[in-house]
Amino acid sequence: MSIGERIAALSDQLTDLDDEWRDAFHAVPRHLFIPDKAWCHPDDGPGFLIDRTADPEKWLDVAYSNTAIVTQIDDGATELEHGQGDYTSSTSAPGVVAAELTLLDPYDGDEVLEIGTGTGWTAGLLASRLGDENVTSIEIDQALLTTATEHLKKAGLSPRLVLGDGAKGRREGAPYDRVHVTCGVREVPYAWVEQIRPGGAIVLPWMPRWAGGHLVKLIAVGDGTAVGRFHGGVDFMLLRSQRWSHPRLEDVYRKSTTYLDPRRVVRSSYGAEVAIAGMLPEVYGMHENQEGGEFHLSLWSADSDAQVHYAPDYKGVAILQRGPRDLWNELEAAYLRWVSWGSPHKDRFGMTVTSEGQHIWLDSPDHSLAVPVELR
Ligand SMILES: C[S@@+](CC[C@H](N)C(=O)[O-])C[C@H]1O[C@@H](n2cnc3c(N)ncnc32)[C@H](O)[C@@H]1O
Repeated sequence: MSIGERIAALSDQLTDLDDEWRDAFHAVPRHLFIPDKAWCHPDDGPGFLIDRTADPEKWLDVAYSNTAIVTQIDDGATELEHGQGDYTSSTSAPGVVAAELTLLDPYDGDEVLEIGTGTGWTAGLLASRLGDENVTSIEIDQALLTTATEHLKKAGLSPRLVLGDGAKGRREGAPYDRVHVTCGVREVPYAWVEQIRPGGAIVLPWMPRWAGGHLVKLIAVGDGTAVGRFHGGVDFMLLRSQRWSHPRLEDVYRKSTTYLDPRRVVRSSYGAEVAIAGMLPEVYGMHENQEGGEFHLSLWSADSDAQVHYAPDYKGVAILQRGPRDLWNELEAAYLRWVSWGSPHKDRFGMTVTSEGQHIWLDSPDHSLAVPVELR
């Protein structure tokens, strides 16, 4: 199969790809951006190494499949062959790239600031559509930036690549029409809002601590704020400065019981996910389905944790909490508050970013979900 046929076959699978981005997918072949050795990370199975020298056909098959390909682990400290560790750079799955670029929806001639150059593929897609001179992409890692420059050269493209912390944006080129963020963001850096034109848009993968990530499109209002809505689900590696690790706590656990099934809190809907993340922005959650129908939920904040264990034989659910906050009680109250609003879906929520920070709202920007004092 020729490269053109491979691109056409992949593009046919991507429902979000409009004709203009489809042309860009042809003009900027993805395989030019994949290192000879990389780690394939499919959603539905174990990861594996692709090696162009050992198996060139398989390497190409993966390059033109709808999967993320990891190109760096532990900031380069771990060899890709191991496949284990924190994934710190990748080319995202083409379906995710198509969804984010379609949401970005630039006009011809728009100036775009991209955060997270990675392999350079998305910077190349933007440059092919808008012109090299209209695209600036920032990467924090020098080694990645160097290989991205080489990849782009092979594709005949040369957008402006900048080494630096993308959280600061790039004042020199502002104002931008679009900011395209390709690393996960917990709190939106205000510099991006300051650096877009009124009516301009920032598209970013919002990765709250609680549950999954969502694409967000924020539009600059012109008064120093940006407002937007949530779109499809995503999972991105985080902006370096927003990485998080579990606190080490030594307090003794307090025991209690609850009658709310924690599986309902976790599985309710994307609306519940956004509402809880909006009400409890500092709370991180992880759950596990265990043998025999048992279920375990762990919660953390910077200074507290909670362990919630459901077993089918007991009417009550066992809770262990420590630290100054009762995280399960806070989560229970937030979840039931969402239920009391009529369990609204994700499309009724939105986000506003101001110089003071960000908040999530229901139905209209004045209905913030800021946590009332009694829940603390
Ligand atoms: C998912 S990858 C980007 C994929 C890329 N757009 C592509 O097409 O290959 C995320 C990238 O964001 C970079 N990154 C993380 N934090 C950053 C920061 N503060 N500023 C700039 N880049 C950052 C990582 O080094 C990584 O290369």
